[in-house]
Amino acid sequence: MIYLLLLTLPLLITPQEYDSRIYKDGNPIAGRLNFSMQQGRSIAGIETKPHAWPWMAQLAFFGRHSCGGSLIDRSFVVTAAHCVRNRLRLLKYFTVYIGGHTSLSGQAHKVLNISVHPLYDTVAVHSYDIAIMKISPPVAFNQTIQPISLPLLPPRDNQMCVVAGWGVTQSDGYSSEILREIRVPIIPAYECNSLYYYAGGVHIPSMVCARKEGDFGSCFGDSGGPLMCERAGKWELQGVASWVAGDAFGRCALANRPDVYARVLPVNSFLKVSMFILR
Ligand SMILES: *[C@@H]1O[C@H](CO)[C@@H](O)[C@H](O)[C@H]1NC(C)=O
Ligand SMILES: *[C@@H]1O[C@H](CO)[C@@H](O)[C@H](O)[C@H]1NC(C)=O
Ligand SMILES: *[C@@H]1O[C@H](CO)[C@@H](O)[C@H](O)[C@H]1NC(C)=O
Repeated sequence: MIYLLLLTLPLLITPQEYDSRIYKDGNPIAGRLNFSMQQGRSIAGIETKPHAWPWMAQLAFFGRHSCGGSLIDRSFVVTAAHCVRNRLRLLKYFTVYIGGHTSLSGQAHKVLNISVHPLYDTVAVHSYDIAIMKISPPVAFNQTIQPISLPLLPPRDNQMCVVAGWGVTQSDGYSSEILREIRVPIIPAYECNSLYYYAGGVHIPSMVCARKEGDFGSCFGDSGGPLMCERAGKWELQGVASWVAGDAFGRCALANRPDVYARVLPVNSFLKVSMFILR
């Protein structure tokens, strides 16, 4: 079993070549994976109603889909640290799209600065996989563009939440043309770390697990996207898509390997301080 970051690697994985190694800090951490093995296996969920998630952001790198993100303020988008970590000197090649339904549509914004959580990948593998980006120009809120709230409480065990993304729908490397969503229940921490699942591999203070529904779950390209949970009629950003264990063939959708999200509640103050410093 290997751990797969949910990041799509458009510069490294091209569907034509099937050179789909998993990279970390620029170095392959897993052997060659044969993505063509998974033709026909659907990973993403259903198409969303256009603008159903008005805070949904899409991060493009060199003009190609890279990751998801969530608008939390006029000028700030939250994403996964692993989406930006090796690209901090390449800010000018990022574009953030907001308000779009089809891939790479909506309003385009530049990225002015990025703050990566200081404990990212330190206290545990992939711990605190959170980054915040300052975008320009600031967005103007309207019916189709709205920020999502930061959480006040952690998600409840077994609570139904929603994830959305433009990630691949089959593991052949093509990202989705339209935003897709899937409803997933939160898995209790003790269960996610049980022998049947990750056997202690999940860093509970900074990570939360959500079950897949059958073959459906987050996969490549959904990284950085929101795990959204409703509380008292309001949607809260409870998680950021981070990683999942795959098998030797790089398949994401293994039944007993839930998707793992970076928790947002413990990084609320990091996000607020970063907004204060970068504003
Ligand atoms: C990848 O899988 C396909 C389909 O099963 C197979 O035809 C092909 O030979 C495999 N390629 C490699 C490099 O293993
Ligand atoms: C990003 O913000 C940091 C902290 O305020 C600052 O030192 C740095 O110069 C900024 N980078 C850019 C590209 O503006
Ligand atoms: C909201 O603002 C965006 C960007 O300015 C615009 O493209 C969109 O049409 C607006 N939506 C509504 C419902 O006014």
